[in-house]
Amino acid sequence: MSHFETSGIYPDHVAIIMDGNGRWAQARGLPRTAGHKVGADAVRSTVKAAKKLNIKYLTLFGFSSENWKRPKTEVSELMRLLRYYLRSETAELHKNNIRLRVIGNRDPLNKDIQDHIETAEELTKNNDGLVLTIAINYGGRHDIVQAAARMASFMKANNLPTDEQTAAEILPSFLMTGDIPDPDLLIRTSGEQRVSNFLLWQCAYSELIFSKTLWPDFKEQDLKDAIHEFACRDRRFGAMKSG
Ligand code: IPE
Ligand code: IPE
Ligand code: MG
Repeated sequence: MSHFETSGIYPDHVAIIMDGNGRWAQARGLPRTAGHKVGADAVRSTVKAAKKLNIKYLTLFGFSSENWKRPKTEVSELMRLLRYYLRSETAELHKNNIRLRVIGNRDPLNKDIQDHIETAEELTKNNDGLVLTIAINYGGRHDIVQAAARMASFMKANNLPTDEQTAAEILPSFLMTGDIPDPDLLIRTSGEQRVSNFLLWQCAYSELIFSKTLWPDFKEQDLKDAIHEFACRDRRFGAMKSG
């Protein structure tokens, strides 16, 4: 239990843009793929830390819809690591009462990876501990587009009025994160200060923290520091300053 929780300003949902694997490796004269490998270890330890710190939802950006533009060898290494992570971690996640879900367009992923994702989601679907969402081949604009398209079909099939008020009420439920709350806190590592097409709709009022730490170096203490900084922020949601 963390002392921040008593303050009442504790983030339920933390989202992370895990950036800087390539630079971490380059700084050591290693191939970029070595950075992705250590980055995968940082995923494991961050999931543990999030559980320990009583975060309810952890959402990690693992591969963007634009990352296909990278060299083929790097993309295959990222896919290999994803496959390995799913195979080696699913049982452990389940043992820890963690529910795993993957967002993003799965169609271009290899069939065996799609199967691993389905197996992991199925096995962990009734767990009521931490909800771990991993974004793979995810793009925030695509998420909004697919939500709008599915909403339009739903409205037509159910003879719903197609006015703005109805759309505003139901559109969020068609997003890939439709069943979880919006992130309270969005962390991006590696010093880059942009959202790179992550949860565009969902981060409308998230607190943003840009950490200089490169993702492979990200530790429990970095997460604690971010949570502490979050606790010091004044979230106004467009209203008056509190207190
Ligand atoms: C993040 O690290 C991992 C992915 C985007 C898949 P990068 O690979 O982007 O590392 P940098 O930004 O080049 O250092
Ligand atoms: C964002 O990082 C995607 C992930 C962390 C998975 P990138 O490294 O791809 O973003 P840009 O290219 O610097 O904007
Ligand atoms: Mg990067």
